[in-house]
Amino acid sequence: MLDLRPQIYYNCRREQNFPPRLRCFFCFGGAWFEVYESMFYIAGTGSALPEKVVSNDDLAQFLDTSDEWIFTRTGIRRRHVLTHERLDDLAILSARRALEDAHTEGKDVDLILCATMRGDTFTPSLACTVAEAIGSHAPAFDLNAACVGVLYAMEIADSFIGTGKAETVLIVSAEAMSKLVDWSDRSTCVLFGDGSGAMVVKKGEGRLAGVLTSDPDSHVIRMPNIEGLNSPYNQIEQEKLAMYMDGGEVYKFAVNAMGHRIEEVCARANLSPADIDWYLPHQANVRIIDASLKKYKIDKSKVLLNISECGNMSATSVMVLLDEYAKKGTFKKGDKLLFVAFGGGLTSGAVIINWNKE
Ligand code: ACO
Repeated sequence: MLDLRPQIYYNCRREQNFPPRLRCFFCFGGAWFEVYESMFYIAGTGSALPEKVVSNDDLAQFLDTSDEWIFTRTGIRRRHVLTHERLDDLAILSARRALEDAHTEGKDVDLILCATMRGDTFTPSLACTVAEAIGSHAPAFDLNAACVGVLYAMEIADSFIGTGKAETVLIVSAEAMSKLVDWSDRSTCVLFGDGSGAMVVKKGEGRLAGVLTSDPDSHVIRMPNIEGLNSPYNQIEQEKLAMYMDGGEVYKFAVNAMGHRIEEVCARANLSPADIDWYLPHQANVRIIDASLKKYKIDKSKVLLNISECGNMSATSVMVLLDEYAKKGTFKKGDKLLFVAFGGGLTSGAVIINWNKE
């Protein structure tokens, strides 16, 4: 896409005073068209997983389950689980790896976004903890859109860059799912894993389109917060502090939502699903991924997976997937990557980017 801004733009960098995103509208053949300037590209990626690997057979030692049940129902063989590490440590490590990959220093980051359902502390936010570790004074905050968090963060980054408020954004995701589930509930705990991923996005050509939605439903997936301690006033009974999920309902929502978001984001980018080089779907269940892509007859070799090794790491899933395949050299310059995810809320979204990393 065109970058029509004058060169003086680049000289304004230090004052954080960037002119706004340029859009133009024109009429052709009786129809109005909008031209959007592509605002960011992915400049670097990183990830960090806990040391401890727990296999399905390990779970079968204390749960009434089996490798066969878990693998055939979900595609998961094993997952990483936090033991001695803190989630903060993983987040900082993945952020440092992404910065190094992008040849960028912490002090040059203009915004830090961290997608997480729950960090080690409510405050400071995970984003501020990362900021402290990398020596940044940029605005930093956490956002919670469950498994779609990274896609929400990419769209926020696009808006900050597009409106001239930032040029370089660090997006981190970190999830400690093992601390949110009830380890005696075999219908949920076998599905999840822990981990962190990060990406540095910079002003430039890359993002082609994005779509975010919510279909609010507070019952299908629910993770209560703590009600506080010893309040003489609070009369609300503490809900069970563990993730509740109606697997069947989530399954139906997920297949529908992923299919629709793919269609919508492709339409916005003026592409067809067949034009996409790589699909990076949220890694919740292989059967959900297969079912949502089925109608587009996508070649399976274009659909990237790591669920068998990592399970569902919520927001972090697409980040770790991206880093893994980027480091393998899977993406070539100009390849079109489509991220698609669904999660608690219920939320869903999709983003298409051109892979323009140097
Ligand atoms: N091992 C053995 N048996 C089990 C297990 C287990 N781990 N878990 C459940 N079962 C049993 C059930 O009790 C049930 O037994 P019953 O028939 O005697 O009652 C039986 O297996 C079948 O259970 P279903 O729920 O019908 O199994 P299904 O084929 O639907 O698969 C699953 C369940 C894997 C949870 C599926 O519904 C699913 O993937 N849903 C989507 C979940 C998801 O994507 N969550 C992530 C979104 S939220 C987020 O990411 C933060």
